Amino acid sequence: MAPVSMIRRRRFLQAAAFLAATPLAAALRAGPAAGPGIPEPPEGFDDTTTAEAATRGLDLAGRTVLVTGATSGIGRETARVLALRGAHVIGTARSQAGGAAAAAAIPGRFTPLVLDLADFDSVRDAAVRVRGLVPRLDALVCNAGIVLDRLEQVRGIEKTFVVNHLGHFLLVNELLPQVLAAPSGRVVVLGSGDHERAPVGGIQFDDLSGRGWEARYAHSKLANGLFSLELARRLRGTRATSNCVTPGHTRTNILRHVGDGYRADARTVAVGAATPCYAAVHPAMAGVSGHYLRDFRSAEQGAVQRDAAMARRLWDVSEALVGDAARG
Ligand SMILES: NC(=O)c1ccc[n+]([C@@H]2O[C@H](COP(=O)([O-])OP(=O)(O)OC[C@H]3O[C@@H](n4cnc5c(N)ncnc54)[C@H](OP(=O)(O)O)[C@@H]3O)[C@@H](O)[C@H]2O)c1
Repeated sequence: MAPVSMIRRRRFLQAAAFLAATPLAAALRAGPAAGPGIPEPPEGFDDTTTAEAATRGLDLAGRTVLVTGATSGIGRETARVLALRGAHVIGTARSQAGGAAAAAAIPGRFTPLVLDLADFDSVRDAAVRVRGLVPRLDALVCNAGIVLDRLEQVRGIEKTFVVNHLGHFLLVNELLPQVLAAPSGRVVVLGSGDHERAPVGGIQFDDLSGRGWEARYAHSKLANGLFSLELARRLRGTRATSNCVTPGHTRTNILRHVGDGYRADARTVAVGAATPCYAAVHPAMAGVSGHYLRDFRSAEQGAVQRDAAMARRLWDVSEALVGDAARG
């Protein structure tokens, strides 16, 4: 077996080779993540505002938005409302049947796309299909997510981290040229206040197998927040932006594997989808990048989710992991 230092060096070289091959390489910029602050939202926008209300009056004809996880919950409501406002919505589902059901339930211009974020080949196939469908993406909403009640792994890596973070990391990298081609391309990543419950030390770089640590969902949501932060840093100097949004405690299907843990104050999806829609298409958010939002405003977050060094390291490790998967 090769010594650890040699393995690390090999991985580093693989990561560098992968980076050189990614479209993102052309867009990389140094500098701080955050651009201008979040402007005060329009009057009356608060924690009861629905996605329909937050997008009222917007004409999204001619815009294309990709929403992952459009079969259920916040993703389906986001897709429905953006299509209602005239956008062409590409909504992902894990199966053709799921996509067809979403298409039947969402009036307007909706194109279903099969995508399984646990399978990097599926992610790459989906990206190829999107590139064939549209020349640009005005927004890419990384919404799909899971909560698991037991340890599951994909290729030895904890599955929640793979689905919620790595799959999206790869998808965004594959489609970044399309985002950069839009006049105000936006990547919106769904995070969560649960990031504060991530294991001590944050991302478990030394052992991503999930063995020996719990808080798997919180760990994956911290990864979502750090990915969004580092993406924003790399997009500085381009027209594209990256923000992370927490929808708040929303009654959806996400707890189906762990029982109904919803509190009495759980939101409807109409409210949960409001800030994701706002970040994805509202003119007030044009050029705003590197932020963590809840209810249209800057949200409190743990210091660990603002850790720029951890965010950079996560980027490098994620590149190596999706690159390794490509090599079989
Ligand atoms: N609900 C909340 O209280 C809350 C709070 C904070 C953050 N969030 C975040 O909000 C986002 C949306 O969650 P939700 O509450 O709307 O949950 P949901 O109703 O369970 O919807 C999750 C979506 O993700 C899809 N999905 C699951 N595994 C996938 C995979 N391997 N590949 C591709 N898609 C997959 C699901 O597809 P299927 O229908 O095929 O399973 C579904 O469309 C998540 O990122 C979640 O972490 C939710």
